[in-house]
Parts: sequence; structure tokens; C-alpha cells
Amino acid sequence: MQKTAPIGIFDSGYGGLTVLKELVNQLPQYDYMYLGDNARAPYGTRSYETVYHYTLDAVKWFFSRGCHLVILACNTASAKALRTIQQNDLPKLAPEKRVLGVIRPTTEIIGQYSETREVGILATKGTVASGSYPIEIARFFPDIKTYQEACPLWVPIIENDEMDNPGTHHFIKKNLHALFHKGENIDVVLLACTHYPLMRRQIEEYVPVQATLLTQGEIVARSLAGYLLRHPEIEEKCSKNSSLQFYTTDSVEDFNEQGSMFFGGAIRSKHVNLEESSNF
Ligand code: DGL
Repeated sequence: MQKTAPIGIFDSGYGGLTVLKELVNQLPQYDYMYLGDNARAPYGTRSYETVYHYTLDAVKWFFSRGCHLVILACNTASAKALRTIQQNDLPKLAPEKRVLGVIRPTTEIIGQYSETREVGILATKGTVASGSYPIEIARFFPDIKTYQEACPLWVPIIENDEMDNPGTHHFIKKNLHALFHKGENIDVVLLACTHYPLMRRQIEEYVPVQATLLTQGEIVARSLAGYLLRHPEIEEKCSKNSSLQFYTTDSVEDFNEQGSMFFGGAIRSKHVNLEESSNF
């Protein structure tokens, strides 16, 4: 019998902590191991090749730590790396392990929230350029029209804690106007970047009243609960002591301070060097 291990949660930096927070809320019995690749973030503006290699390094690191299940709590990594890792790398590396993302759990339910059948996606440049959201939404809800808007400044704004800066409002307004100019009947706006929930209050000011603003944390947590019920062979390999471990590839002091804002609770992280340790 294989040893049990925490569920691995990966993000380019802090954003995945908004997902972890909901996982801990809904599934508190499990152990979680969080890794933020802060030293190489942001991923949102990087090429496919780069995001794929960085994400694969992280997945190997989780596997070397014994994790059986890894969640890419980053839209950019889910959009640009997940499929290749699932189809090409996992069968060779560890066919019995699983890597899941955040795009499918969201796209398979988004149609339930829309009456006009027009939805808007706000995300990083990389996620938008990948076309993952329109493609996946069309698979589950062929009648839905998906409009996207890249918001390349939002991650740096959030990471620099400039959410209430008047300049920030200018950019939020600009991006929301551009989105609603493309699809004026949009009635669901998805924050398809795990950083964006930190700026929810400010974004909401520019979302028309008839539209619903969705974030992913809760949706991903509900979807994971369902997945674990359907896959007892994976569930039984997830350790259950309600523990949390945090790792970052950059400064632990910065991670503890910034990360606690995203997570909504105190964090004590450890440093890790992915190039040295991912010899899975
Ligand atoms: N949190 C990542 C996402 O959900 C974006 C952050 C980044 O650009 O690294 O897409």
C-alpha cells in the first residue's frame, strides 16, 4: 500500500491561495502542500514553452514529495501546460498520479449562471491567447457565446497592493468597458485568474447590475469534492490531518506577508529551489 500524502496546490505565486482558502473551507480534513513559484512569476505574459517547463518542474517537485494529486490552481498554467502534462508526461512519469486544473471545473458549470447565453472572461494575456475558455465552454454549452478581455496590469497591481489607487480604477473601467463593448448582453463575468478575487470589490463597481461576477475558488473546491467521491482510489492516497505547508521559490518573508493577504490567515513558508530538487 502506497503512503498517503498531502494534496499539492500549485500557482505561479500567490493567486492559488484564493483557491486553497476555499479548499480548506470545504474540505478541511485533507493535508495541503502549497507551492508558489514566485521567483519566476508572473506566468501570464510568458510563452507556452516557458509556462510548460516551469509547471512541469513544479509537478515533479510535488511528486518527489510524495503527492499523488496535484491541482494547478493557476489559470495560466492550466491553460498552457495541463494538457501536455496529462497526455505526454504523466504516462511516463507516474501513470497512477493525477494532475488537475481550474479551467474545466469552471467551464462545466458556467452555463448554469447565464440566461442571455453570453459570458465574459477576464484573465491574463496567456490564458486569453490560449483560447482555452471559449473552447472548453463551447464543449459543455455550445449555445453560449464567450467574450474575453486580457487584463495584463491586474496581477502586478494586486501584487503591489495598489487595488485602491485611482489609476487602478482607470484600468479596471477600461477593461470592463472593452469586454462589454464586445458582448453587451453578457450576464456572467468570470474572474479567470486566481489573483483577481483580491480586487473583487473594485471590479464589482464596474460590472453592470444585471451581470453576476464569478470567482473560481468555491467552484474548484466543490468540483474537487465531487472528484474525490468519484475516485476513491485517489482519495484514499490523500492524507487527512488538516495540515498546511507552504513553499515558495522566492523570499519566505515576502511570501508570508503577501500570502496572508490572499489566504486570509497567517502563513509560515519555506524556501525551495525547483531546479535543484525536481529530480523526480
Ligand atoms: N494566478 C495566475 C492565473 O490564474 C496568474 C498570475 C501570473 O500571471 O503569474 O492565471
